[in-house]
Amino acid sequence: MNLNEYVSRPFTSFDKEWALVTAGDIDHFNTMTVSWGAMGTLWNKPVIIVFIKPVRYTAEFLASNDQFTVSFYGEQHRKALRLLGTKSGRDSDKIRESGLKPVAAGMSVTFREADKTFLLKKIYMAPFDPDSVPPFAHDLYYKEEAEHFIVIGEVIDIVEEKQNE
Ligand SMILES: Cc1cc2nc3c(=O)[nH]c(=O)nc-3n(C[C@H](O)[C@H](O)[C@H](O)COP(=O)(O)O)c2cc1C
Repeated sequence: MNLNEYVSRPFTSFDKEWALVTAGDIDHFNTMTVSWGAMGTLWNKPVIIVFIKPVRYTAEFLASNDQFTVSFYGEQHRKALRLLGTKSGRDSDKIRESGLKPVAAGMSVTFREADKTFLLKKIYMAPFDPDSVPPFAHDLYYKEEAEHFIVIGEVIDIVEEKQNE
């Protein structure tokens, strides 16, 4: 799909419908559910930004790979996304348990069931500066765990469902 054809609903796509962030290659990867994210323009490039806590197993794969994917799913896959967002790939084979079928996308991975997958080139990954995080966010999210990484990916391809078959 051409970038110009993509109709975005960034406020509901992440918050209400959720997405999977996947990093690694087809032989060694991990995925997790996110509901925080942004789409837009940075440094004159089309970008997707996700916010990943350093404790997530997926963070290790994001740190050590140049590409990652953000993929969106229909409501029928809600249960799989809930599972992938509550279990860690560190402790269990949650991907097999979810029933989703991994497929290669560029140098990264997505799932056959995705409606749309954004293939992203990682162009920035760094944690929020603790001194600049507003007090309300500190109290809600960072009392016990370190600040999220801001992970910015340049959109290099949008893969639609039929291309995964
Ligand atoms: C609906 C939903 C949304 C989530 N959004 C985020 C998010 O935006 N950022 C984040 O770091 N964790 C988020 N999580 C938590 C991770 O998905 C969860 O900790 C997951 O088990 C991490 O898996 P991993 O350790 O295999 O990477 C979310 C979980 C759910 C259920």
